[in-house]
Amino acid sequence: MSLQLTIDDLKRQARRRVPTMFFDYADSGAWTESTYRANEEDFHKIKFRQRVLVDMDNRSLASTMIGETVSMPVALAPTGSTGMQHADGEMLAAQAAEEFGVPFTLSTMSICSIEDVASVTRKPFWFQLYVMRDKDFAYNLIDRAKAAGCSALVLTLDLQILAQRHKDLRNGLSAPPKMTPKNIVDMAIRPRWVMGMLGTQRRTFRNIVGHAKGVTDLSSLKAWTDEQFDPSLSWKDVEWIRERWGGKLILKGILDPEDAEMAAKTGADALIVSNHGGRQLDGAPSTISMLESIVDKVGDRIEVHMDSGIRSGQDVLKALCLGAKGTYIGRPFLYGLGADGKRGVTRALEIIRKELDMTMALCGRRDINTVGKDMLHR
Ligand SMILES: Cc1cc2nc3c(=O)[nH]c(=O)nc-3n(C[C@H](O)[C@H](O)[C@H](O)COP(=O)(O)O)c2cc1C
Repeated sequence: MSLQLTIDDLKRQARRRVPTMFFDYADSGAWTESTYRANEEDFHKIKFRQRVLVDMDNRSLASTMIGETVSMPVALAPTGSTGMQHADGEMLAAQAAEEFGVPFTLSTMSICSIEDVASVTRKPFWFQLYVMRDKDFAYNLIDRAKAAGCSALVLTLDLQILAQRHKDLRNGLSAPPKMTPKNIVDMAIRPRWVMGMLGTQRRTFRNIVGHAKGVTDLSSLKAWTDEQFDPSLSWKDVEWIRERWGGKLILKGILDPEDAEMAAKTGADALIVSNHGGRQLDGAPSTISMLESIVDKVGDRIEVHMDSGIRSGQDVLKALCLGAKGTYIGRPFLYGLGADGKRGVTRALEIIRKELDMTMALCGRRDINTVGKDMLHR
């Protein structure tokens, strides 16, 4: 295996190891992908102030997110179909996160189920909820997350309808993949991935199949998901979800200060400034460009987290300087997983930790909890 020094190195390896359909599923944004690109590009425009001759001994990245201790304020974002990047992907990523001391968030649309992940971890993980039209199914998911000891519910607000990603349509994305001649060739040149998949039973959406009414196999699953995302979801729904859950609640997908105001009023514990990694509203601004105005508006009342576009520890530090209490990575950990399974996820976290620590030091700070806007050129 060649040197893995950056998230981009992991991405290159993942591209070789993961069938095109699933690699592209991760590496894509909606329509023209302009927001997907802006998320990364806008981080590059922010510059640090270089400071010297400040005592750099005994640095610390430890912090808290929603009151939970984290070894660095970087959680793994909820991502659907993660078990298609690598066999048993969610279980492996959850274990890597647990060992590293950062939160793992399991998606509703995961391959491994809530119970699968609970069976291989000891500390509580977080669960991300998509609210479906079938309310019994939503109640049941919330109850299952509670029973598994999840310590936070992440409610995603920006996917009432699913935006279009051209690559997925062109590749005929499905889990497991359809056995077309093109897909067979694409998989045949990736034997490690195929062997992994043959060695596991977990190849479909296990939070759903066998749990939702009438969903027993793949074809009924497709019909069900096509009609199930609830386009009528509204701020009122946050109330019953909060009540049913009864624990820490995080609202994901805020990109506008007015929506942030609404989110703060719900009494949730945190909100995530997110545009779904550029996968929903193409043409929306990058999250890093919106973060400061949202922190200014509600930061004194609700913890503000952010995701979308983070590719390095430097990006994490920029987000923290602009007022985020915590951050999430989606694609960086997926690339690690695709490149090298659990080891690859750990590697992604190590790369980010090293970049974060060195950058903080070179900016003249020792404690991640003291970083702020004064560290940036503005
Ligand atoms: C392949 C993929 C699948 C995703 N699936 C979900 C999901 O099921 N639920 C959700 O709330 N967000 C989902 N997201 C969005 C992520 O939680 C997160 O907001 C985004 O990945 C952050 O951007 P980044 O990938 O640039 O770090 C997904 C993102 C990717 C890349």
